[in-house]
Order: sequence, then structure tokens, then C-alpha cells
Amino acid sequence: MTRYLVTGGAGFIGCNYVRFLLSGYPDAKVTVYDKLTYSGRVENLEEPLARFKGRCELVIGDICDSAAVERALQAAQPDIVVNFAAETHVDRSIADPDTFVRTDVNGTAVLLRQASDQGVARYHQVSTDEVYGPVPVSQRSSEGDVLNPSSPYSASKAAGDLMAMAWHETYGLPVTLSRGANCVGAYQYPEKVVPLFATNALLDLPLPVYGDGKQRRDYQHVLDHCAGIQAVLEHGQPGEIYNIGTGTEITNLEMVRILLETLDKPRSLIRHVQDRPGHDRRYGLDISKMLGLGWSPAMSVEESITASVCWYRDNRAWWEPVRAGEFQDYYARQYAGRPDHVR
Ligand code: DAU
Repeated sequence: MTRYLVTGGAGFIGCNYVRFLLSGYPDAKVTVYDKLTYSGRVENLEEPLARFKGRCELVIGDICDSAAVERALQAAQPDIVVNFAAETHVDRSIADPDTFVRTDVNGTAVLLRQASDQGVARYHQVSTDEVYGPVPVSQRSSEGDVLNPSSPYSASKAAGDLMAMAWHETYGLPVTLSRGANCVGAYQYPEKVVPLFATNALLDLPLPVYGDGKQRRDYQHVLDHCAGIQAVLEHGQPGEIYNIGTGTEITNLEMVRILLETLDKPRSLIRHVQDRPGHDRRYGLDISKMLGLGWSPAMSVEESITASVCWYRDNRAWWEPVRAGEFQDYYARQYAGRPDHVR
């Protein structure tokens, strides 16, 4: 048996990783440790908790709560800790940066200290390509590049990255770290652009494209990202950082075209609205180090978007209650009265 503690395992990438582990690795035993926020939802785990009884359990707790983390680690006795727990939405970080510093910086430090004290054999920190900041089309970000975050979200994640590597250097904790491109797929809270636009389009609501819509993103399928993390755990080296993505990007307007064609909805739903402050124009990852581990993405950017959009089309029972809750207030704050983009 390999015992995993998966923090943030009720969130989007975390709950996909939990499914990936339990269905693909019969010797994996998973303890999910999650605070259950607006986006970390127990509903995301109902199916694996029922299907893999005895191999999957949920402990409700905050990574900032040192005593609770210690108790969870002592009870689970994990061989591997994978940290997905984070505040992740850039727009929310602009409105409320403190929450991001608390969880993504302080919470990461608490988890690292407890994992180190407990002597876990591997700690994996899940991070983001946003820590590199925007890169021109002629360049790709490599793992050794200087960090240049733009938003409170990416600055908090960058601080968490530095903290994780410091725990490796100073205390000898066997840390690996991955920086992922934009993930798409099942169970993503509809604040992120693909589930937001897919569900808006299904409801015949406008799609609020920020600015000119020519920003470029690498939309990778979440299951490719999960397989990448597993490749790092199996073949990566402690103390090393790995970029995970498809290594290609498209503009947001191209993403919208794929999404509308998949749903057979008109382009008249597109509405260009005022841009996000500090909006990074492009992320572009050099993924050669991951390819060197024998991993490669199974799906292209276009296939990833199409598969995700189809999931939202076919799973209204998941997203209708989500959009009926906290989402309503968030959507009103974020979009009602937002002026049109001035060309
Ligand atoms: O790159 C990895 C990162 O991808 C993750 O670390 C973050 O947690 C995740 O939120 C995502 O960050 P982005 O800011 O790129 O994702 P988001 O879905 O918010 O936006 C994707 C692109 O779509 C970005 O260029 C902004 C644009 N956008 C977004 C929203 C929500 C719009 O045009 N309109 C919108 O309403």
C-alpha cells in the first residue's frame, strides 16, 4: 500500500487526481484533507468515497491549522503528501489578496513544517505557470527562469514555491514541484473561463471576453496534468521543478470559437468587456524536462477544450446547483456593470 495525503483533494484538480490515483493504482490509499471552500466541494468526492470505500477518506481541515494538519498526518501516516490546497482564481485575488497570502503562503509553510517534522518520504507542491509572469511569443518559460508574478495569486504561489524549495534545501524534505498550465476538465468551478463560458453559452448568456481576447493560454486537460504529477512522483528527482502543459497555446478568442462550435451556439454571445487589471498576455511553457521523464500529454489544446465543454453540456446536474449558490454573488460583483472593452 502507498499512502497519500492529498490536500485540496475536494477541489478541481485535486478531485481529478484522487480519481486518477484510486482507479489507476490499486495499491494507493488516499486521505483527502480539505477545508471545503466554495470550490472545494464534498460533492466532487461523493463518487470516489463511495466507490473506493476503505481506500479513500475525507478529513475536513485547513492547511493553515497546524494542530489539525499534525493530527491528519499522524492518523494517515502518508508516504506521500501532494499539496493542491490553494486559493486559485486571479480575479478573486485582485479583490481579496489577504486570503491568498494566508492559504498559498502561510498554509504551505505550515504543511511543509508538519510534513518535515513527520518525516514524510515525499512532498509534492502543485504550482502554476503564472509564477513566471507573461512571456513574449518568441520565448518559453523554463524551470530555472526568474519568477516574475503579476497578480496577488501568482505572487502567493511563487512565495509557496520558494518556501517548498527552502524546506528541501534547509531541512532535507524530499520536495518536488510542478508548474502547470491552465487546466480544463470535469468539476472545475465556473469562475474559470472555460466552465464559465460553457455554462453561460448553455444558458444563452453573454461570454465576457476580457479586453481584445488575444491573450494566449495553454489549455491542458486536467487528467494529463494528473498523469504528469504522477510521472514526477515516480521518476522525478527531489529538489527539482517540472513544467506541465501541452507546450502550445491558443488565444482566448480561438478557445471561444472551439467552445461555441462544440455547443452549436452563435458568436453573437461574445461580449468584449473591460480587461482584468495586470492581465498577463501570454504564458508559454518549455515542457522538455517533463518529456524527458517519459510523460507526454495525451490531448491537444483543442481536444482538451472540446472534451471539457462536452462534460459541462452533459453534466448539468453538477453545475446547476453550483451556479445557484455563492456563484450568484460572485458573478454579480465581477461582471454586473462591467463596462465594455474600449478598442
Ligand atoms: O496558468 C495556470 C493558471 O490558470 C492557474 O494557476 C490558475 O489557478 C487558473 O485560474 C488559470 O489562470 P488564468 O487567469 O489564466 O485562468 P482564467 O480561467 O481566469 O482565465 C483564462 C483566460 O481567460 C485569461 O486570459 C483571462 C480570460 N478570461 C477569464 C475570465 C474568468 C476572460 O476573458 N473572461 C473571463 O470572464
